[in-house]
Amino acid sequence: MKFSITILFSLLGIIGISQTYSLPKLKYSYSALSASIDSTTMEIHYTKHHQAYVNNLNKAIAGTKLEVLPIEEIMLNASLTPDAVRNNAGGHYNHSLFWDILTPKKDKKPSAELYKAIEENFKSIDSLKKLMNQAAASRFGSGWAWLVLTPEKKLVVTSTANQDNPIMDVSKVRGIPLIGIDVWEHAYYLKYQNKRADYLGAIWNVIDWEVISNRYTAALTDPLMQKIEKDNWQELKDFYKIIIATCHPLEENNFAPIREMSGELYLKALILKKSTVPASLKHEKTKLALEKMLILSKEIHAMVDRNEKDEHIKKKMEELHTTFHEVQEKCTH
Ligand SMILES: [Fe+2]
Repeated sequence: MKFSITILFSLLGIIGISQTYSLPKLKYSYSALSASIDSTTMEIHYTKHHQAYVNNLNKAIAGTKLEVLPIEEIMLNASLTPDAVRNNAGGHYNHSLFWDILTPKKDKKPSAELYKAIEENFKSIDSLKKLMNQAAASRFGSGWAWLVLTPEKKLVVTSTANQDNPIMDVSKVRGIPLIGIDVWEHAYYLKYQNKRADYLGAIWNVIDWEVISNRYTAALTDPLMQKIEKDNWQELKDFYKIIIATCHPLEENNFAPIREMSGELYLKALILKKSTVPASLKHEKTKLALEKMLILSKEIHAMVDRNEKDEHIKKKMEELHTTFHEVQEKCTH
């Protein structure tokens, strides 16, 4: 299901059709989890809180370029988006995940593959639960506790504030979330009041290990993982900032930024060439692109120095732009 939604959003993005978000359908009744989460909390949480994130997200992106982007792309660039988009995109994604990983069915077990990964990373499921509960209990104020698969294929426990999540570029630990536990008071206050630890103890009784196992298998080959890995490549991001600031004004024949910043462009290309390439991108194509970007940046800087004609600089910059996108597939600004 996750794949088909992602593919649909991507297609909408490619063909430029705007989208409207809506609440995902719950797989169980409001009272189905009542031993751990009471019916009223479920209903208010889903129909009021989650619905508000959906409404506010639709309102925040309406008429903007974010309207045609997949939600994952919006979250990858969370640091660059307005707070209303970041908070409500996170709110919608996080709650959709939360409903999906809960179940009234008893005795759901992790797959052999996930079980092995948990043992390798945490020694046991009980240690994982303990770490998750510690992360959730120590999250000051409102936020989420996460089990994340990182680009290095490690399972890591972390927490984020507010409606942030590990897909976002603002998160300290990044990767694809497999489990997300909502520790906002609205998730537990009616039944547990100030006893967050009791809520955390009870939630494991309704966790759907089957769904989480499927999420784990899907995350291992999800193209989103490579985007996160690439996004964590700081030197590439620094170079990208100069590309945005110089290349794009050229489309409107504005040459002032590149004439001003060619030295910085060359310096960032040099730093990028010397940086550590993320594991999944360590191949010949990346190596050649980085070398070419350095040569082109050096040439452009020399051309600016010689005060060459605008059109010559523009042509070289177009070549640099194309080469850059061999590493970073497309512009996301
Ligand atoms: Fe919530």
